[in-house]
Amino acid sequence: MIKRILTGVAGVGIVAGMGFLWYAWWPAIPKIAPVQPGQFSAEKIERGRIVAAESYCVECHTRQDNGGGPTLAGDYKMETPFGDIFSSNITPDPETGIGNWSEPAFRRALQYGVSRDGSHLLPAFVYDHFTKMSDEDISDLYAWIMTRPAVHMTRRPNGFPLSISPRITLASWKLMFFTPGRYKPDPNHNAEWNRGAYLAEGAAHCGACHTPRNLAGAEKLPGQEYDGGVVDGWIAPPLNQNNPTPVVWTEDELYQYLRNGVAPLHGPAGGPMSPVAHDFLATVPESDVHAIAYYFADKAHAAERVSGDKAALEHAMADSKKDLVGFSTDPDARLYQGACGACHYNAAPAPVLGRPELALNNALWLKEPTNLYLVMLRGLTAKEGQSGVAMPSFYNALSDKDMARIAAYLRRTRTTLPPWTDLEKKAADARKLVEPPVNSSH
Ligand code: HEC
Ligand code: HEC
Ligand code: HEC
Repeated sequence: MIKRILTGVAGVGIVAGMGFLWYAWWPAIPKIAPVQPGQFSAEKIERGRIVAAESYCVECHTRQDNGGGPTLAGDYKMETPFGDIFSSNITPDPETGIGNWSEPAFRRALQYGVSRDGSHLLPAFVYDHFTKMSDEDISDLYAWIMTRPAVHMTRRPNGFPLSISPRITLASWKLMFFTPGRYKPDPNHNAEWNRGAYLAEGAAHCGACHTPRNLAGAEKLPGQEYDGGVVDGWIAPPLNQNNPTPVVWTEDELYQYLRNGVAPLHGPAGGPMSPVAHDFLATVPESDVHAIAYYFADKAHAAERVSGDKAALEHAMADSKKDLVGFSTDPDARLYQGACGACHYNAAPAPVLGRPELALNNALWLKEPTNLYLVMLRGLTAKEGQSGVAMPSFYNALSDKDMARIAAYLRRTRTTLPPWTDLEKKAADARKLVEPPVNSSH
């Protein structure tokens, strides 16, 4: 009896193992002769440009450290808990790029995370989102990529333990966390909603930053979709109804933020969110950005939650002026007024565009003070947030203790949330994430 069960278990094991090897194994797709750029129509290439902008291919495939690199030639560094990863050269160079990839090979990479030679690719290449893209969009994208200048350039080797690289390890990861398949329209919603969902879930991969990840680096789905994540040390706030800002992200606030990099009530898109708006969503059809805003406003039930906005806005405007009236005896209020108050004050009825009202900005309302610290330490360039408007860096002007006092003061006087803890240590941790400004004595 026992033996039979054991044999049964072994049998299941063997079949499962064979199934897994079948799942893990992909054939190489033969190389092709370099593609003739003239074969694609100008309209197709332009459609491909838009798809590329909506999926930030250029961002992740262009080196930014070491003085920058040629567009799409790869070697972009991504820091992960498992080690540094460098992206591939995806220019049409036949030797170091993808110049001899056929369209089916290109499509398979995006939709299944498999390279032309059959090896599994790292999920840092967000194919868990790109798998939702339509064949048509990928065909247009192929035309755009294949008509970019070819660049001969090799990337740096990935710097993580070898145990992660073999294709079997990656295949196991994919078996557990990756569900290939195109986006399926939801018949309960209209065309604009479905267009927004198609873009957000697929090409624009908003969840890659805004959904928390588990220990294996996979998004916690389903369950914690858009519940907030961490990227390059920054908190990417929740985009669902758990977003903590006192004024709701309405469709219009979302649209302006995504299109112009600044929302009238909430403030600027800083850090890793800045290129999403300025370099990419600013260059695509307006209707697509409206669709994304429509989708997220609906998902977060914005329309049902706006009733408190008017009161929250009035409250914030009253707080904003508070410490300007007379001389405060609170030393923290005076530190804040001296360092920040000259720029960050507003009067009713609403904040001035480009002068964010801190009482409404997420930096004060998130679970941790990280974003507030990162903004104080590095400032914001004229490119980020409101175009042409900058915030100076306080890297040298404020000590960790000063920053901790300002953070505690703002949290206490501008929000209704419990105080942050370990503020000075967290200030020191945030400082480690920031490059000292040039000419710094630190
Ligand atoms: C979030 C960053 C990120 C984005 C966005 C991104 N990629 Fe990548 N991509 C990577 C990384 C990292 C790799 C390398 C994966 C590896 O080494 O296994 C990669 C690999 C690839 C490969 C495989 C190349 C090869 O030689 O095997 C192709 C093709 C590719 N990307 C195309 C694209 C296209 C097209 C887009 C835009 C739709 C895009 N990528 C957007 C990070 C990204
Ligand atoms: C590369 C990572 C990344 C991607 C991709 C990304 N975001 Fe963000 N997002 C961030 C970060 C980081 C912040 C915080 C920026 C700040 O505080 O200035 C942010 C902020 C936001 C905010 C402001 C939230 C608040 O309460 O202040 C909204 C809205 C937003 N993102 C929407 C989106 C949408 C929609 C997409 C997809 C189209 C997207 N993001 C894609 C990283 C990302
Ligand atoms: C010289 C004017 C000036 C001073 C001083 C200043 N800021 Fe700012 N701050 C700005 C401007 C302008 C922006 C919006 C920038 C943009 O849109 O690109 C901003 C943005 C911010 C944001 C929003 C960041 C985001 O990504 O959402 C925070 C938070 C902030 N400042 C905090 C502070 C704190 C704290 C101090 C004091 C230590 C301070 N600022 C001092 C001008 C200033």
